[in-house]
Amino acid sequence: MENILEIASLDVRFEQPQGQLRALRGIDLEVKKGEVLCIVGESGCGKSVLCKTIADVLCKEGIEHAGTITYGGIDLLAMPEKKRRRLCAKDMALVLQDPHTALDPRMKIGRQLDEVLKKYEKKLSRKERTQKLIEMLEQVEIDHPSQRMEQYPYMLSGGMKQRIVIAQALLKRPRILLADEPTAALDPSVSKVVLDLLKKINTSHHITIILVVHDLAAAYHYAHRVAVMYAGKVVEYGTKEDVFETPLHPYTKALLRSLPGLNKANRRLETIEGSAPLIYEDIRYDAFACRNKEADPRDFVEQASMSQFTKTHFAAVRRGNEDV
Ligand SMILES: Nc1ncnc2c1ncn2[C@@H]1O[C@H](COP(=O)(O)OP(=O)(O)O)[C@@H](O)[C@H]1O
Ligand SMILES: [Mg+2]
Repeated sequence: MENILEIASLDVRFEQPQGQLRALRGIDLEVKKGEVLCIVGESGCGKSVLCKTIADVLCKEGIEHAGTITYGGIDLLAMPEKKRRRLCAKDMALVLQDPHTALDPRMKIGRQLDEVLKKYEKKLSRKERTQKLIEMLEQVEIDHPSQRMEQYPYMLSGGMKQRIVIAQALLKRPRILLADEPTAALDPSVSKVVLDLLKKINTSHHITIILVVHDLAAAYHYAHRVAVMYAGKVVEYGTKEDVFETPLHPYTKALLRSLPGLNKANRRLETIEGSAPLIYEDIRYDAFACRNKEADPRDFVEQASMSQFTKTHFAAVRRGNEDV
């Protein structure tokens, strides 16, 4: 299967008073054309930074990049900034967590959507644009589209707003849709409707989707492939069958053991103690080793250059103190 995106040795570092925070550490990842790639991992592991780096929406100030993001045979990170911005703005659409802040509260829905068509479909007449908007709202399962277009965002429910945001993203006909926890602000029943819609878009429009989800069960249901991230690294990547049936990394194994299952009614779910470290230095050991009870001592091989902060943090995590 053809790759639409290839990421190699991607590093993103944020300048902070304590030093450079390694938000992404040598990410290697392929995204297959027409598939849904789910990214999972606990808070702070770099999922959003990865999506924003791909979609080129990170503010460049105080940030260092290394590595390559190859799209259409070209390394996006090596492109002139203006050209990259134009390409990413057209070909990639980013849907974020909170639909309440994604829409302008002062503008009617129809006008907000029309702005996209005016920008990307310059040849269409006003009448053709309206027709296209109605069709798009029908595709994202919004009832009474003509009436909805006359409404303001506050008149719609959270789930409807997120579907409007998805419609807005699709109007420019992107090749990759990045959805960063698109259901985090929604009720579980509404979440399912939104995720089902994304899956339908993937199947019917053949749009590649990178979907960040918190819920492993959702990843299993919606993904073709899964990437598991931990402390700025992709620690496991493969087809969903491979990742869920034969996980290789201890973090993936631990995550799967913490999943509720219908046949485990009487079993206490496992938790992963401690929290993920923030990493400021180059480390050669597995960052998860300090939280992994079954880790091999060789996983811990520490470098002399490890910062005091990281050392203290790891020592505390090993003692079971989460408050560091
Ligand atoms: N603009 C920024 N400036 C400094 N640090 C940031 C910035 N954005 C994210 N980070 C840090 O990078 C790490 C990864 O963040 P993020 O990708 O948002 O995690 P998540 O996996 O929860 O989406 C976190 O430690 C976060 O605090
Ligand atoms: Mg995030």
